[in-house]
Amino acid sequence: MARTVLSLQGVDIFQNKHKVLSNVNLQVKQGEFIYIIGKTGAGKSSFMKTLYADLPLTEGHGTIVEYDLRQLREKDIPYLRRSLGIVFQDFKLLPDRTVYGNLHFALKATGWTEKEAIDRKIEEVLDKVGMRTHIQKMPHQLSGGEQQRIAIARALLNDPDLILADEPTGNLDPQTSVEVMELLKEINANGKTIIMVTHDYALLLKYPYKTLKCDDGTLFEVVYKTT
Ligand SMILES: Nc1ncnc2c1ncn2[C@@H]1O[C@H](COP(=O)(O)OP(=O)(O)OP(=O)(O)O)[C@@H](O)[C@H]1O
Ligand SMILES: [Mg+2]
Repeated sequence: MARTVLSLQGVDIFQNKHKVLSNVNLQVKQGEFIYIIGKTGAGKSSFMKTLYADLPLTEGHGTIVEYDLRQLREKDIPYLRRSLGIVFQDFKLLPDRTVYGNLHFALKATGWTEKEAIDRKIEEVLDKVGMRTHIQKMPHQLSGGEQQRIAIARALLNDPDLILADEPTGNLDPQTSVEVMELLKEINANGKTIIMVTHDYALLLKYPYKTLKCDDGTLFEVVYKTT
Protein backbone atom coordinates (compact mmCIF):
# COMPACT_ATOMS: atom_id res chain seq x y z
CA MET A 1 0.00 0.00 0.00
CA ALA A 2 1.46 3.36 -1.02
CA ARG A 3 1.81 5.75 1.88
CA THR A 4 -0.16 8.97 2.14
CA VAL A 5 1.92 12.08 1.43
CA LEU A 6 -0.90 14.59 1.83
CA SER A 7 -4.05 14.36 3.90
CA LEU A 8 -6.55 17.19 4.29
CA GLN A 9 -9.77 16.94 6.26
CA GLY A 10 -12.26 19.74 6.54
CA VAL A 11 -9.64 22.31 5.62
CA ASP A 12 -10.54 25.94 4.93
CA ILE A 13 -8.09 28.06 2.94
CA PHE A 14 -7.83 31.75 3.82
CA GLN A 15 -6.23 34.86 2.39
CA ASN A 16 -6.15 37.05 5.50
CA LYS A 17 -9.74 36.94 6.80
CA HIS A 18 -11.18 36.07 3.42
CA LYS A 19 -12.11 32.40 3.00
CA VAL A 20 -11.02 31.25 -0.44
CA LEU A 21 -11.88 27.52 -0.23
CA SER A 22 -14.13 25.68 2.23
CA ASN A 23 -14.07 22.15 3.55
CA VAL A 24 -11.29 20.69 1.41
CA ASN A 25 -10.90 16.93 1.81
CA LEU A 26 -8.10 15.20 -0.03
CA GLN A 27 -5.83 12.18 0.30
CA VAL A 28 -2.81 11.92 -1.96
CA LYS A 29 -0.75 8.72 -2.09
CA GLN A 30 2.93 8.42 -2.90
CA GLY A 31 3.37 8.22 -6.67
CA GLU A 32 0.20 10.04 -7.71
CA PHE A 33 0.13 12.87 -10.28
CA ILE A 34 -2.61 15.38 -9.62
CA TYR A 35 -3.72 18.48 -11.48
CA ILE A 36 -5.40 21.45 -9.86
CA ILE A 37 -7.43 23.52 -12.31
CA GLY A 38 -9.88 26.40 -12.02
CA LYS A 39 -10.35 29.92 -13.24
CA THR A 40 -8.24 32.88 -12.18
CA GLY A 41 -8.76 33.88 -8.57
CA ALA A 42 -10.42 30.55 -7.73
CA GLY A 43 -7.83 29.78 -5.05
CA LYS A 44 -5.33 27.42 -6.68
CA SER A 45 -2.21 29.30 -5.55
CA SER A 46 -3.71 29.90 -2.10
CA PHE A 47 -4.24 26.14 -1.85
CA MET A 48 -0.64 25.44 -2.84
CA LYS A 49 0.68 28.13 -0.46
CA THR A 50 -1.15 26.47 2.41
CA LEU A 51 0.59 23.19 1.54
CA TYR A 52 4.07 24.75 1.79
CA ALA A 53 3.10 26.86 4.80
CA ASP A 54 3.23 30.23 3.13
CA LEU A 55 -0.34 30.57 4.39
CA PRO A 56 -1.23 29.12 7.82
CA LEU A 57 -3.68 26.26 8.18
CA THR A 58 -6.18 27.41 10.79
CA GLU A 59 -9.30 25.29 10.16
CA GLY A 60 -9.44 21.53 9.71
CA HIS A 61 -6.68 18.93 9.76
CA GLY A 62 -3.77 18.68 7.39
CA THR A 63 -0.63 16.58 7.23
CA ILE A 64 1.94 16.77 4.48
CA VAL A 65 5.04 14.53 4.25
CA GLU A 66 4.98 13.81 8.01
CA TYR A 67 4.30 17.41 9.05
CA ASP A 68 1.12 18.42 10.80
CA LEU A 69 0.20 21.76 9.23
CA ARG A 70 -1.78 22.83 12.29
CA GLN A 71 1.07 22.11 14.71
CA LEU A 72 3.78 23.66 12.54
CA ARG A 73 6.13 26.04 14.33
CA GLU A 74 8.06 28.79 12.55
CA LYS A 75 11.30 26.84 12.90
CA ASP A 76 9.76 23.74 11.26
CA ILE A 77 8.93 25.57 8.03
CA PRO A 78 12.40 25.36 6.41
CA TYR A 79 12.45 21.62 7.15
CA LEU A 80 9.00 21.14 5.65
CA ARG A 81 10.07 23.01 2.51
CA ARG A 82 13.22 20.93 2.31
CA SER A 83 11.10 17.81 2.03
CA LEU A 84 9.02 19.35 -0.76
CA GLY A 85 10.11 20.43 -4.22
CA ILE A 86 8.48 23.71 -5.16
CA VAL A 87 8.30 24.98 -8.75
CA PHE A 88 6.77 28.27 -9.89
CA GLN A 89 5.54 29.77 -13.14
CA ASP A 90 8.31 32.40 -13.16
CA PHE A 91 11.17 29.98 -12.33
CA LYS A 92 12.55 32.20 -9.53
CA LEU A 93 16.21 31.64 -10.36
CA LEU A 94 18.71 34.08 -8.88
CA PRO A 95 19.67 36.26 -11.86
CA ASP A 96 23.12 37.23 -10.59
CA ARG A 97 24.70 33.77 -10.56
CA THR A 98 25.22 30.76 -12.78
CA VAL A 99 23.21 27.55 -12.86
CA TYR A 100 25.87 26.04 -10.61
CA GLY A 101 25.64 29.07 -8.32
CA ASN A 102 21.87 28.79 -8.08
CA LEU A 103 21.96 25.13 -7.12
CA HIS A 104 24.91 25.65 -4.79
CA PHE A 105 23.03 28.44 -3.03
CA ALA A 106 19.95 26.23 -2.56
CA LEU A 107 22.02 23.38 -1.10
CA LYS A 108 23.93 25.69 1.26
CA ALA A 109 20.63 27.18 2.41
CA THR A 110 19.38 23.70 3.30
CA GLY A 111 22.40 22.73 5.36
CA TRP A 112 24.79 21.13 2.88
CA THR A 113 28.44 21.90 3.68
CA GLU A 114 30.72 19.40 2.00
CA LYS A 115 32.01 20.63 -1.35
CA GLU A 116 32.34 17.21 -2.99
CA ALA A 117 28.86 16.10 -1.95
CA ILE A 118 27.46 19.41 -3.18
CA ASP A 119 29.16 19.09 -6.57
CA ARG A 120 28.03 15.48 -6.96
CA LYS A 121 24.46 16.40 -6.12
CA ILE A 122 24.43 19.33 -8.56
CA GLU A 123 25.69 17.11 -11.38
CA GLU A 124 23.13 14.44 -10.50
CA VAL A 125 20.12 16.77 -10.66
CA LEU A 126 21.37 18.48 -13.82
CA ASP A 127 21.68 15.06 -15.44
CA LYS A 128 18.10 14.30 -14.46
CA VAL A 129 16.82 17.36 -16.30
CA GLY A 130 19.25 17.06 -19.21
CA MET A 131 21.05 20.34 -18.45
CA ARG A 132 24.54 19.31 -17.34
CA THR A 133 26.27 21.11 -20.20
CA HIS A 134 24.63 24.40 -19.11
CA ILE A 135 26.16 24.38 -15.63
CA GLN A 136 28.21 27.56 -16.09
CA LYS A 137 25.51 29.60 -17.85
CA MET A 138 23.74 32.58 -16.34
CA PRO A 139 19.90 32.40 -16.23
CA HIS A 140 19.60 35.14 -18.89
CA GLN A 141 21.61 32.93 -21.26
CA LEU A 142 18.93 30.22 -21.04
CA SER A 143 15.54 29.92 -22.75
CA GLY A 144 12.39 29.86 -20.60
CA GLY A 145 12.12 26.09 -20.93
CA GLU A 146 15.77 25.68 -19.94
CA GLN A 147 15.29 27.97 -16.94
CA GLN A 148 12.33 25.89 -15.85
CA ARG A 149 14.44 22.74 -16.13
CA ILE A 150 16.97 24.32 -13.79
CA ALA A 151 14.18 25.27 -11.40
CA ILE A 152 12.99 21.64 -11.50
CA ALA A 153 16.56 20.46 -10.89
CA ARG A 154 16.64 22.77 -7.86
CA ALA A 155 13.36 21.27 -6.63
CA LEU A 156 14.96 17.80 -6.79
CA LEU A 157 18.08 18.68 -4.75
CA ASN A 158 16.83 17.36 -1.44
CA ASP A 159 15.12 14.33 -2.96
CA PRO A 160 11.59 15.40 -2.00
CA ASP A 161 8.71 12.94 -1.84
CA LEU A 162 6.27 15.53 -3.08
CA ILE A 163 6.65 18.20 -5.76
CA LEU A 164 4.31 21.20 -5.79
CA ALA A 165 4.27 23.03 -9.11
CA ASP A 166 2.15 26.17 -9.56
CA GLU A 167 1.63 26.65 -13.31
CA PRO A 168 5.11 25.41 -14.22
CA THR A 169 4.33 25.74 -17.93
CA GLY A 170 2.43 29.03 -17.62
CA ASN A 171 5.20 31.10 -19.25
CA LEU A 172 6.19 28.56 -21.88
CA ASP A 173 5.12 28.00 -25.48
CA PRO A 174 3.17 24.80 -26.28
CA GLN A 175 6.16 22.79 -27.52
CA THR A 176 8.32 23.75 -24.54
CA SER A 177 5.40 23.03 -22.20
CA VAL A 178 5.24 19.50 -23.57
CA GLU A 179 8.99 19.08 -22.97
CA VAL A 180 8.68 20.25 -19.36
CA MET A 181 5.65 17.99 -18.94
CA GLU A 182 7.63 15.00 -20.28
CA LEU A 183 10.26 15.76 -17.66
CA LEU A 184 7.67 15.93 -14.86
CA LYS A 185 6.13 12.70 -16.12
CA GLU A 186 9.51 10.99 -15.96
CA ILE A 187 10.13 12.32 -12.44
CA ASN A 188 6.70 10.98 -11.45
CA ALA A 189 7.49 7.61 -13.05
CA ASN A 190 10.55 7.48 -10.79
CA GLY A 191 8.26 7.56 -7.77
CA LYS A 192 7.79 11.23 -6.92
CA THR A 193 4.33 12.54 -6.20
CA ILE A 194 3.41 15.67 -8.14
CA ILE A 195 0.64 18.22 -7.56
CA MET A 196 0.51 20.65 -10.45
CA VAL A 197 -1.66 23.71 -11.00
CA THR A 198 -2.35 24.34 -14.66
CA HIS A 199 -4.55 26.28 -17.05
CA ASP A 200 -3.38 24.29 -20.00
CA TYR A 201 -6.18 22.05 -21.28
CA ALA A 202 -4.00 20.72 -24.09
CA LEU A 203 -1.69 19.24 -21.45
CA LEU A 204 -4.63 17.77 -19.52
CA LEU A 205 -5.80 15.98 -22.63
CA LYS A 206 -2.36 14.79 -23.67
CA TYR A 207 -1.36 13.67 -20.16
CA PRO A 208 -4.54 12.63 -18.37
CA TYR A 209 -4.17 12.39 -14.58
CA LYS A 210 -6.52 12.82 -11.66
CA THR A 211 -7.85 16.38 -11.81
CA LEU A 212 -9.22 18.55 -9.03
CA LYS A 213 -11.06 21.75 -9.75
CA CYS A 214 -11.24 24.89 -7.62
CA ASP A 215 -14.62 26.46 -8.19
CA ASP A 216 -17.23 28.28 -6.19
CA GLY A 217 -15.16 28.21 -3.02
CA THR A 218 -14.46 24.52 -2.99
CA LEU A 219 -12.16 21.86 -4.43
CA PHE A 220 -13.56 18.72 -6.01
CA GLU A 221 -12.49 15.94 -8.32
CA VAL A 222 -13.42 16.30 -11.97
CA VAL A 223 -14.81 13.15 -13.49
CA TYR A 224 -14.41 13.14 -17.25
CA LYS A 225 -17.25 11.82 -19.33
CA THR A 226 -16.06 9.17 -21.76
CA THR A 227 -18.80 9.57 -24.37
N1 LIG B 1 -1.70 38.15 -0.92
C1 LIG B 1 -3.04 38.21 -0.98
N2 LIG B 1 -3.74 38.97 -0.11
C2 LIG B 1 -5.08 39.02 -0.14
N3 LIG B 1 -5.84 38.34 -1.02
C3 LIG B 1 -5.21 37.58 -1.91
C4 LIG B 1 -3.79 37.48 -1.95
N4 LIG B 1 -3.43 36.64 -2.95
C5 LIG B 1 -4.59 36.25 -3.52
N5 LIG B 1 -5.65 36.79 -2.91
C6 LIG B 1 -7.08 36.58 -3.25
O1 LIG B 1 -7.40 35.22 -2.98
C7 LIG B 1 -8.23 34.68 -4.02
C8 LIG B 1 -7.55 33.47 -4.61
O2 LIG B 1 -6.34 33.85 -5.23
P1 LIG B 1 -5.30 32.79 -5.79
O3 LIG B 1 -4.03 33.50 -6.08
O4 LIG B 1 -5.26 31.63 -4.89
O5 LIG B 1 -6.03 32.37 -7.16
P2 LIG B 1 -5.54 31.43 -8.34
O6 LIG B 1 -6.59 30.39 -8.53
O7 LIG B 1 -4.15 30.97 -8.09
O8 LIG B 1 -5.58 32.40 -9.60
P3 LIG B 1 -4.61 32.48 -10.89
O9 LIG B 1 -5.12 31.45 -11.84
O10 LIG B 1 -4.84 33.86 -11.41
O11 LIG B 1 -3.20 32.26 -10.45
C9 LIG B 1 -8.45 35.82 -5.01
O12 LIG B 1 -9.69 36.41 -4.68
C10 LIG B 1 -7.32 36.77 -4.74
O13 LIG B 1 -7.70 38.09 -5.02
MG1 LIG C 1 -2.33 31.28 -9.05
